[in-house]
Amino acid sequence: MIASAPGKIILFGEHAVVYGRHALVSAIDLRCRVEVKKRSEFRIFSPLGLTGLDLKIHPYITFAINRFCEFKKIEGAEIVVKSEIPIASGLGSSAAVTVATLKALSEEFEVYLSEEEIFEIAKKVELDVQGRASGIDPFISTFGGSWIFPERKKVELPFQFFLIKLWERSTKAMVEKVANLRQKYPEIVEKIFDSIDSIALKAPNCGAEEFGELIHMNQSLLRALGVSSPEIEEIVSKLEKDGFRVKLTGAGGGGCIFGIFSGRKPENSFLVRPEMEGVKIESA
Ligand code: PMV
Repeated sequence: MIASAPGKIILFGEHAVVYGRHALVSAIDLRCRVEVKKRSEFRIFSPLGLTGLDLKIHPYITFAINRFCEFKKIEGAEIVVKSEIPIASGLGSSAAVTVATLKALSEEFEVYLSEEEIFEIAKKVELDVQGRASGIDPFISTFGGSWIFPERKKVELPFQFFLIKLWERSTKAMVEKVANLRQKYPEIVEKIFDSIDSIALKAPNCGAEEFGELIHMNQSLLRALGVSSPEIEEIVSKLEKDGFRVKLTGAGGGGCIFGIFSGRKPENSFLVRPEMEGVKIESA
């Protein structure tokens, strides 16, 4: 059984969304495909390596299997992962592999979980691995489309985006960094979250020019939260000098930066489009 799920970009609202604020998020046309076959033991094969159940190398898949076993105890499976989504780059590769694994397990072992159930289990898996999370990644990987989250207000985004991949980093570490800053300066950080919230809510009604201004403002607020860096700011400034508006997407500290594609894109960038389809079966 082969299932696939999309990656995502958070357009506005990362980090603030962990503390109950809104985010604007869109699935993108890069997918992770997971094949599951019944076997007598567990074998997981991915670009990260070949292992059995392994919380170090394959934490999301291993926790997904553990959580799936709460629905149906299984003795083994071969799991093969092929992904177009860059790893540890803020594009939702972990959630996509989790959601696609759960869907493929659910069909292969005839449990037939609903999308809502897959989302709920994937959210638990994310918490198992990361300790603190908003659930935005499993949500978008499961349902696809573009949304104001956590409200579940569907929106249409008439844009294509360019993405520049920086370097890999840990979401968990960046989420912890913001948690520490909030603990130290609660009254200041909460107001930064409120500003980010207003940006996320305003964005769906904006044309390209205003959207670009919101990108610029949100990037400045991410910098204030401590999830940018001098290296990232240098790249952002250079792109701004060239007339682009860009911001980090996802946890920051590296990962990816994005901007709206208006016929021109920076060197070393690639284009993505909003993707309507969430998790699905590719073939039996
Ligand atoms: O970097 P990513 O793609 O894992 O996105 C993390 C988004 C955060 O808001 C920083 C955390 C969360 O769970 O919402």
